[in-house]
Amino acid sequence: MTQTPQRTAPIGVFDSGVGGLTVLHELLVGLPQEDFLYLGDSARFPYGDRSAPELRGFARENADILLARGVKLIVVACNSATSAAIDDLPLHVARSGHTVDVIGVVGPESNLAVARTRNGRVGVLATPATIASGAYERAVLAVDPLVRLTSVPCPRLARISQNGAPITEQDVELAREYCAPLREAGVDTVILGCTHYPFVGALLQRLLGPQVTLVTSGTAIVRRVGHALALRDLATPSEVEGRYSFLCTGDAAAFATIGSRFLQLPMGTVDHVALTQEAFA
Ligand code: DGL
Repeated sequence: MTQTPQRTAPIGVFDSGVGGLTVLHELLVGLPQEDFLYLGDSARFPYGDRSAPELRGFARENADILLARGVKLIVVACNSATSAAIDDLPLHVARSGHTVDVIGVVGPESNLAVARTRNGRVGVLATPATIASGAYERAVLAVDPLVRLTSVPCPRLARISQNGAPITEQDVELAREYCAPLREAGVDTVILGCTHYPFVGALLQRLLGPQVTLVTSGTAIVRRVGHALALRDLATPSEVEGRYSFLCTGDAAAFATIGSRFLQLPMGTVDHVALTQEAFA
């Protein structure tokens, strides 16, 4: 039987850990009356080194957890999961009997980057999984085939944010290395193609220079979510601030501590949720 979502239901958001909180932050600011349920799959962090089939499996499982709690829309607040699973996930959701839209971060961010560039040279920093998928290349070139995209895989950048430790000189050198090809290419717009990267946004901006525009997944997706809700007549009828809560597959206390620094809003409680499969450390 098909299950139709309720307007008063929360919007489900998931990521491999705390990175998607940068997306949730923008959603909480842009759609303040909506309720949100965030799932951080920190037991299986990082996603960025995993294969596409593995990420598709994780995305399905995360979606099932959120659907079981009655969400009305799913936001994949993880670029690695979006790159691997954005075609598969809506089919999985529909096959499991839910009429729930799935929105990923790659498309809206690519549109925004193409709109922002003035010299037609755009860079993308992302995890190895995201870069290997070619998702940004396809999305950017679909909007404007004349844009020159320079893609840089950044194998260790998400960890700097996920562990919550202060940024070190070594981190700066690592980021400098990742930014070098973008400086060389003369890009004027850089896509932060991983939801963990806004945490090091100031560092990246300093290394790239103030003339470069950084585009993040969070700012790009808010309008898309708003449109999807309006189109389906699913926007909440509530006129007061919505509620938000958290699920985490790993250490809930650590998630709450690190998360509160980045959400810039109170976290409240974080509930642990068990995975049905073995958690891959
Ligand atoms: N936040 C995830 C993304 O946007 C990456 C971090 C990870 O490697 O899990 O791709």
